[in-house]
Amino acid sequence: MEDNLPVNVREYQELAEKALPKMYYDYINGGAEDEHTLRENIAAYGRILLRPRVLIDVSKINMSTSLLGYDMSSPIMVAPTGAHKLANPEGEVATARAAAACNTIMVLSFASSCKIEEVASSCNAIRFYQLYVYKRRDVSATLVRRAESLGFKAIVLTVDTPVLGRREADIRNKMIFPQPGNVVDLMSLDNDLGAEGGSKLEQFARETLDPSLSWKDVEWLKSITSLPILLKGIVTAEDARKAVEAGAAGVIVSNHGARQLDYAPATISALEEVVKAVAGAVPVLVDGGVRRGTDVFKALALGAKAVMVGRPVFFGLAARGEAGARHVIEMLKNELELAMALCGCRSVAEVTRAHVLTEGDRIR
Ligand code: FNR
Repeated sequence: MEDNLPVNVREYQELAEKALPKMYYDYINGGAEDEHTLRENIAAYGRILLRPRVLIDVSKINMSTSLLGYDMSSPIMVAPTGAHKLANPEGEVATARAAAACNTIMVLSFASSCKIEEVASSCNAIRFYQLYVYKRRDVSATLVRRAESLGFKAIVLTVDTPVLGRREADIRNKMIFPQPGNVVDLMSLDNDLGAEGGSKLEQFARETLDPSLSWKDVEWLKSITSLPILLKGIVTAEDARKAVEAGAAGVIVSNHGARQLDYAPATISALEEVVKAVAGAVPVLVDGGVRRGTDVFKALALGAKAVMVGRPVFFGLAARGEAGARHVIEMLKNELELAMALCGCRSVAEVTRAHVLTEGDRIR
């Protein structure tokens, strides 16, 4: 084991900042506009307190859970984030191996650097595939079919990005986004973009993303795949109910890591509203701002089946490659185990609403 390994996610972030060119670090770390929601995603966790229960035998803690019938060693999954080769030359292959080593599910981004085939053959992880709907429907449909035939178990349709949020750090840095590995073969991108071997992110998004994305497209997606479909990017009860009506197999409370609509609510603040609206019909996941095992615990207490982590895994990858990504997930798991023990919970099923005190509870 190396000496002086980071002891928490924040230290991985510091290492990542040192390791990465500024343009890439800003792209990963940044959020939309004033970055209000970015700060809130983390700050809102800080306003939720834990209610420890004592004198319960916690000599055995079981963190395992399952999602859509697939077992995981803990309720901590890898969120889809694009272009992992910005952080490490092995890209998503390294991330997938880290997820497999931790026995958890990785959601592979539509904008991955590595080809789906490479990731699929790299290890035996359970994987879901995240989808953006492009104006060129054939490109999106082809990738869904490829994911399905390569053994991906679910499609995660990102619904909060009909257009790209305004990320000012990227605009200032004239961020060059490497062309996503799976997309380049399927569509010829603007020559200017190709000539640089990359593209300015906003321009790329404007050319590709379909702003007409609507509930009808969930029907379309269901017509081209037999995989379960989770909708990622829901933060209101209204949309959560519609998602269930539309036949979603799961709802992911997400604001895209605060990279889309600034002043959208922190996801942990929106979670309970969505959980109530879904009323147990399908599992509800949450992502955004999870940096500690206690955050995972709070999300479980407020009704999440599992959380997904985005930037922390990216930071681990940038700092120490596959080993770093793996260590980040392991640290979060260990922290969750500790939080469960100190709250007197021996299984995720024993984590209840009564274990947390939210701001709303304090006002009432
Ligand atoms: C993202 N996210 C994202 N989401 C998605 O559906 N498809 C994608 O390709 C990406 N790409 C992406 C890149 C980077 C650098 C970041 C930081 C995020 C959003 C991601 O899935 C997730 O919602 C957030 O990352 C969760 O917030 P935290 O954990 O980063 O705070």
